[in-house]
Formats: sequence, structure tokens, C-alpha cells
Amino acid sequence: MPSCERVLYGADYNPDQWLHDPAVLLEDVELMKKVHATSASVGIFSWTALEPSPGVYTFDWLDETMDRFAKNGLVVFLATPSGSKPMWMSELYPEIRRVNAHGQREPSGGRHNHCPTSPVYRQAVARINRELAKRYAKHPALALWHIGNELNGECHCPLCKNAFHDWLKQRYGSLEELNRAWWAGFWNHTFTDWSQIPTIDKSIDGLCVDWLRFMNDQHVSFLETEMAPLREITPQVPCTTNMMGTNRGTNYWKWSKTLDCISNDIYPLPDDRADTWRKSLGSDFTHSLMRGFAGGNPWMIMECSPSSVNWSKINKLKRPGVHLQEVMQAVANGADVVHYFQWRKGLGGFEKFHGAVVDHEGGTEGRVFKECAEVGRVLRSLSPVVGIAPARAPVALVYDWEARWALDSSAGPKAGTYGDRYTEACVENFRALRSAGVEVDLVAVDADFSPYRVVVTPALYSLSTETARRLADFASAGGTWVATYLTGYVDTNNRCWRGGFPGPCLREVFGFWNEEVDYLFDDEKVLVQGAFSGLDLLTEATDIVEHIHAEGATTLATVESEFYAGSPIILRNDWGMGQTCYIGARLAEEGYVAFYQHLAKELDLPRLSLPRGVVRKTRLGADGPVEFLFNYNRHEVALDLGEDTFVRVADGKPCRGKITLRPYDSLLKGVRVSDAAAAAKPVSHPTRHELQPS
Ligand code: GLA
Ligand code: ZN
Repeated sequence: MPSCERVLYGADYNPDQWLHDPAVLLEDVELMKKVHATSASVGIFSWTALEPSPGVYTFDWLDETMDRFAKNGLVVFLATPSGSKPMWMSELYPEIRRVNAHGQREPSGGRHNHCPTSPVYRQAVARINRELAKRYAKHPALALWHIGNELNGECHCPLCKNAFHDWLKQRYGSLEELNRAWWAGFWNHTFTDWSQIPTIDKSIDGLCVDWLRFMNDQHVSFLETEMAPLREITPQVPCTTNMMGTNRGTNYWKWSKTLDCISNDIYPLPDDRADTWRKSLGSDFTHSLMRGFAGGNPWMIMECSPSSVNWSKINKLKRPGVHLQEVMQAVANGADVVHYFQWRKGLGGFEKFHGAVVDHEGGTEGRVFKECAEVGRVLRSLSPVVGIAPARAPVALVYDWEARWALDSSAGPKAGTYGDRYTEACVENFRALRSAGVEVDLVAVDADFSPYRVVVTPALYSLSTETARRLADFASAGGTWVATYLTGYVDTNNRCWRGGFPGPCLREVFGFWNEEVDYLFDDEKVLVQGAFSGLDLLTEATDIVEHIHAEGATTLATVESEFYAGSPIILRNDWGMGQTCYIGARLAEEGYVAFYQHLAKELDLPRLSLPRGVVRKTRLGADGPVEFLFNYNRHEVALDLGEDTFVRVADGKPCRGKITLRPYDSLLKGVRVSDAAAAAKPVSHPTRHELQPS
């Protein structure tokens, strides 16, 4: 992480787009100070401004920006400009342009569309990065390397295809092995020469998964190419690249191993439905994933919008309180940096109407600017948490891109056109655990499970024998392993396990046989009935219901409609010194929540009992714990705080005893109340006129 004593606060900043109007650049720094900004990400799409023609460098504007920042006590997250290729380069070397799945090479323009394999592009990137590193190695403003931008996507060019073949040779050694792994005899797809292997064929499910693995590896090795000169010249400056949550093609667990720190771009869209708390818990899921990538340590928000976005169907403004809450929510979840896209709205281009701290009007009187200033002040009061890892949760939930890719690539399970079933299963279980008052960490499938009491693996559709054994060992050593529908259908080549699901060897570990799986119509529901913790459970399942036969496991709930009525759907099995539990259908929310409440009670897990959508989070701080209390609802909620005294961030007033939480309320405890109160005091913002440089 960039070293700092307070939460770093800033935005993507494009001074190179304003070189024609130097007054704006001077004004920017003054405005940054007004919102208590500490930093900015500079140069993300600036390659042509840095190198207008091959080997000709124009660093003066960046020199001036860096100097101006240093002079004003601000730091720079210096971007490498690879997110968008210069037009001259793109025209000179067509091979650096991506080829789409239909074999068409993309024209110059757009962005995020380079070929990750092209040696020409890799060399060009390494060259400009080396120049940047040499020039700014000792500059006091340089705090972090921001590598490229939202690196992702696929390229199907001949270079990538050849690299894919090499990757496959490495993985399988021989075509015989590859044909076996891909079950290639099906539809006569046996390959007799490596050159026959395409980059895309949806009828070869093993190929689909390997292609995604390969592309992911290409991105990681591209990242490493970018970082090599930076690490050589500026070993003291950390490197990150901005991730995109659960983006499909990027297995960020692998990326995390090579990056120095983790950063994410997150844009929770305003939701007009009553259940805004669900969306907010969804953001908590993403934040927990980032904490997981960071090995439990603090991480960064590299981009969020201070108001609306411009790329959604309906680009609504955030309601009062929402933005402040979203920022504090991220900090409560371990973020030590909060940056926006974007600092100032450009006058033209695709994102001229995207939310920004500084509007086209340019002054300080706008609602968004004032809110950003308020956020900046609140973040200052949260300095005691900076650099301190949040406490570990008692429950780990596995998020595994490999299982997602295998499920996605398999025709049959209700996937594909039905969207991202895998992530949905993970988010639903996460939300239910949190609604049951239990804290959750997100971990990789190869994580060390031993610090946890419970490991939850939703829809772990593909898994290796080794993973199955590790999870079973975790249970047998006294842990609780909870799995759900779609567990253990295929191996890591996307080939089905023989001997009955769940495989491999899990039939015994879970004590049942999953004979077949029913995919329901969209509006169909089946009844589920059971009893937990002495309470009757009556709920529904939708979407996916497995037809299960107990083979030693205890039945906690059964299906009560359909031809498989009476068959178990929630089961528990003793395993060694611990236990395994299985939920064989996509339950309605209350069903999951009841199950996890029961589990928490049975295992005596630490848990909080709060109204729905009210969240209390503790983050360790230098002077003791800092507590956050949020109302994720868009309606008021009554709450009894007892003896606890919090401060309402919106007005700086202390709250204790019986209180009414306002819509999207945020309360704090454990930071200097006076600071938080000061945060809420209205300040008189200078006008644009006052800020004009003399
Ligand atoms: C992404 C990009 C930014 C910007 C924002 C807009 O996160 O990284 O450059 O386009 O989206 O929301
Ligand atoms: Zn390519």
C-alpha cells in the first residue's frame, strides 16, 4: 500500500486534457485541497501526450503536475498508459490491436483493446514504463504505480492462438492427453495436430475453461511485463492495477499473488426498489473479496462515482446520504484509499456526463462538490484505522473462478443464458450469513482454512480430488463445511465425476447421493419444510432442486412438493471431529437465513442481532476499535443502542438509547467525536471566482 497516515482520498485526474487552459490546472489543486484530497491517479490514458511520436517524449506537463502536487502536499498514483494505445502506434503495428471472437481485427480507437500477447506492444509498454520510472524515481509525489486500467477481455489473433497452443502443450504434454481431458471424441473433435485447435468452440467444454485460464494467465504475464522495469528502478514504490470485482474473465486470486496491493473499481447503481439493503450487502461481498485478495489486509477503492454514472440504462443521482455511506462502508470493510472516477468532467468524449467531483460549472457550490468535501473531512477523522488489518471473521466463503468458468461452459445446468449462477449462489449465501449476523471473509479455494470455524463453498461445481480432500480434512479436524446445490459435478477438465454426485469421494463425506437435478421454470417454486433449532421451517426453493437420497446424513429439511416430495434437501453429516452440511436447492432468502441462524447458534459463533439492513462493523484502530453503524435501508429503522454512544455523521450529534436510524444513516463510534462533529459542520466553500489564480 502507498504509505500514509490517513485514508487517501482523490480521483482519476486528466491534466493532459486541459493543457490549453493552464488556469484550470492551478484551480484543480486548490479545489483538491478544499475537498481534503490527498492524491490523484494521473496519466491513465495519456500515452500520446507523453510520447506523441515514436521515441519522442513530452514529459513537461507531467513534470509540472508532479511538482505542483508535491508543492501542495499531494501525492500521485502514477499510471502506466497501456489502457489505451496511441493512434500512431495502433496504425503502425496492427498486430497490437485485438482480434474479436469472429476473427475481425478491431480498428484503432476505443480502449482496453490491446493484444495481451503481442511482443511489439509488450516491448512498447516496457519502454514507456521504464522512461516513466527513470524520470520520476526520486520524485516526492510518486506514491504508487497504477498499472494500465481495468485490464481484461480476450484476443483471438494468431499470436494469441499460437501462445494458447504453447500453453496447452505445457499443460498436457501430448495431444492424446489433451483429447482425453477434453473428451474430444464427442462430435468427432479429436485433434490430430496442435494447429487445429481453435480459440473458441462452445461445444468443447474443456477447451472453454482452458481458454479462460490461458487468457487470464496472459493478462497476469502482461502485468508482470509492465511491472518489471518499475520494480527494477523503483523497488520502493508499490504496484497495483484496478480490478473489477467479480469480472468474469479475470481470476483475481492469481493476479493478487503478483501485485503489491489490491485496488477495485465499484459502481453500485442506485436502486429504486425498497430493498436497497440487498444491493449494499452485495457491495460488502465485493469489499470482502478485495480484503481476501489482500490477504486480509487493507485495500483500495480506485474508482467510484461521487454521483451518477453515464453508462447505465438510467443514470440516477445518488440519494442524500448514500454516497457518504458507500464510502464509509468501504472503509469499514478495510479500504484505506478512496478514489473517484473522476476529478473533473471533461468537455467532450464519452464520459462528459459521468459523475465527477468538479462539474462543468466548475465551482464549489454544487451539492456533489460539497458532499465530496464532507466525505473528505469524515475520512480524515478515520485516520486511526489506516494500515491496520480488519479482524478475521469466523466464517470463510470460497469464491472460485474455476468453478464459475466450468459451470458457465457447461450446457445443461441452468447456466449460460441464465446469467452468472455461480456468483449469484455465492452472493446469496454471503447475504444470508450477514443477515444472520455473522461476519464472513472471502477466500480462495486453495486458502488455509484452519483459522476458520466454518467454510462455505456455494455451487463448487468443479473441484479436484485434492480440494475435496482438503475441505473434508478441514471438517474432520473439527470444522463445519457447508456446500450447496451444484457441488462436485465435474473435475478440473469439466468432465463429470463417475460414481454419483457429489464427487469425488464426497458422497461419503456428505452422507448422501444426489441422483439427479431438476431445473425449474422461472416462475416455479417447490416447498421446503424442516425444523432447525426447535423452530419449524417452511420455505420455498426456486431454479435448481436436487433429488437427493440420504446415505447416513441426518435430514434437516425435505422437499414437500413435486414427484420427489419427501426427499431430503438440507442435510448434516458427522465427519471426523466436525461435520458437513448440504443445501441441495436454491432456497428463498428466509430459508438460507434460518439455516445460518441455526448453524451460528449451534456452533456458538459470534453474531449480532440487528434489524434487516442494519449493519454494525468494527474495524481495529490505533486507539482501540472503531465502530460503524449503517442503515442500508431507504426507510427509517428503530434501534436500541443501549449504553453505546455513537455519533451520527450527518449532523455530528451523539446518539444513544432508543434511536431512529434515518434512511442511509451512518453512525460512528471510537473516533474523536469532535472530529466527526466538525465533519458535519457546514463550511463556507469558496466560489470559483475566489479560486481564480492571481
Ligand atoms: C471504468 C474505467 C474508468 C471510467 C469508469 C466510468 O471503471 O476504469 O476509466 O470509464 O469506468 O464509470
Ligand atoms: Zn492477440
